Amino acid sequence: MSTPNQIGLDPISAAGLAAAGLEGRLVTASSAEFDEFAAAVDRGFLGERPSAERVAGRRARFGDNHAVAVYDPASSSPWLPIGTLIAWPMEVTVDAGSFLPMWAISAVTVSATHRRHGIARHLLEGELRQASAAGLPLAGLTVSEATIYGRFGFGVATHAANLTINARRAGWAAWRPELGQGSGHVDPIEPETLAADLATLNETTRGRRPGDVAGWPALWQELSGTSPGKPDPRVRGVRYVDAQGAVRGALAYLLEPDAADFSNHRLRVNALLADTSQAYAALWLFALEHDLVGTVSASLRGLDEPLRWMIADQRALTVTERDHHWLRILDVPACLSARRYRCAGTAVLEVEDPLGFAAGAWRLTVDADGAATVERVQHPGSGGERVRLTVAALGSLLLGGVRASTLRAAGQLDGSAAAASWLDVAFLPVAAPVLSYWY
Ligand SMILES: CC(C)(COP(=O)(O)OP(=O)(O)OC[C@H]1O[C@@H](n2cnc3c(N)ncnc32)[C@H](O)[C@@H]1OP(=O)(O)O)[C@@H](O)C(=O)NCCC(=O)NCCS
Repeated sequence: MSTPNQIGLDPISAAGLAAAGLEGRLVTASSAEFDEFAAAVDRGFLGERPSAERVAGRRARFGDNHAVAVYDPASSSPWLPIGTLIAWPMEVTVDAGSFLPMWAISAVTVSATHRRHGIARHLLEGELRQASAAGLPLAGLTVSEATIYGRFGFGVATHAANLTINARRAGWAAWRPELGQGSGHVDPIEPETLAADLATLNETTRGRRPGDVAGWPALWQELSGTSPGKPDPRVRGVRYVDAQGAVRGALAYLLEPDAADFSNHRLRVNALLADTSQAYAALWLFALEHDLVGTVSASLRGLDEPLRWMIADQRALTVTERDHHWLRILDVPACLSARRYRCAGTAVLEVEDPLGFAAGAWRLTVDADGAATVERVQHPGSGGERVRLTVAALGSLLLGGVRASTLRAAGQLDGSAAAASWLDVAFLPVAAPVLSYWY
C-alpha cells in the first residue's frame, strides 16, 4: 500500500479544475502554504482564524498526510485556498479481529465564494480514483451533512447514539464492581496520562467490534484537552485499575455548570474506553454517581450500549441516533472477504456504481466456517440468488449496521425475501458497529 505522500494529485481532477480556471496542488505540512491551508479548513467549517499555535498543532498533526488545496489564480487573493481536502490511510475493524485499510477523507471544504461549481466533486472523485489505484479497498468519511456523499457511493455504515441520562433518576440495576483495597479502583489522572491511557485502550479494544478505528495521537490530545494550540483545561480524567494493577479503562469528561443551580452540573463524556466489563461499569457508575451532577451525556456511542441494561430506570436515558460513519467500497472482493459471516450460503450481488470501482456482479460464497470467497460473475443468472443494490447500500451492509431485509423494505435492495433473509443472518455483526470519534 502507498503511503499518503506517495499518493499524488489525481490527474483527471487536476485537468477538470484547470479547465475551470482553477489550480489543484498538493500541500505539505512543512510548506509555507500550509498556514493558509489550515486557515481555509477552519474557515470552511465556519470557525475563527486559527492562532499561530493552532496552526503549529495542525502542522504537527497532519505530518505526511495527503492534503489537496485548490486555488483560484483569477481571485484578488490567489494565495488563499478556495478548496481543501486531507486524507490518510486508517485501519477500520470490519469484524472481530478483522481489519481493512481505509482512505480516510477529511477537511473537505469549498469557500462559500466558490460553492456549487463542482470543486468538491473534483476533489472527492479524485481521491477515490487515487485511493483505488493505490490498492485501498475502502474510503470513509464522518460527515457534516447527510445529503452530500451518497452521490459519490458512500453509504451509512455506522449510526451513532447520543445519550442523555438523568443521573438522579437512573439508579443502578446491574452488579456493582468491587472497588477499594485489594480490588479495582478508580483514580484521578493527569491529562497527559489520560491521553496515553486512551491511546493504549484504543489499541487493545478496537479489534472487538466493527466500525472502530485505530486512533492517532492528535485525537487523544483533543479528547484529553491537551491539543497544542488548543488546550482545554476543563477536561478531567479518571482511569479504572484492576486488582492486579492493570489499567482497564479511562474516562475523559467535562463538568458544565448550570447557572441557576450549582448542584445540577452536566457531566459530558468526551471518551469512555473500557477493556473489561468491570471497568465499563465502574466508569459509568463514577459518572452517574458524581456529586453535584444532574445530567450525564455522551455522544457517538454504540446503538447497543450495555449501559441501557445497567441502569434501574431506562426512562432516565434519552437516546438520539444519527448517521455517523460513511463507507465507500472501492474493491468488492477485498471488502467482502475481509470479514466473517454467520451462516453458509451464496448470493450474487449485482452492484451499481456510477463511478465504476465496484460495478458488476459478484458471487459471495460463504463456507461452513463463515469464510467468504468473492468472484466476479460474467453471467449473473447462474448459481446463487440474485440481489441488486447500489455500492452505497453495500457499504451500509458491510459492517452489519443494517439488515438487508430493511434495505429491501426501503427499496434500496432488489431481491427475493429469501435472499435478503440469508444476507440478514450472514452479515450479523458481533456487536452493533460503532465509531466514537470524528475524523
Ligand atoms: C459541502 C461543500 C464541500 C460542497 O462543495 P461544492 O464545491 O459546493 O460542491 P460541488 O459543487 O462539487 O457539488 C457536488 C454535488 O454535491 C451536491 N452538494 C454540495 N454540497 C451539498 C450540500 N451541502 N448538501 C447537499 N448536496 C450538496 C451538489 O448539489 C452537487 O450535486 P450534483 O453534482 O449531483 O448536482 C461546501 O459547501 C462546504 O465547504 N461546506 C462547508 C463545509 C462542509 O460541510 N464540508 C463537508 C465536510 S464533511
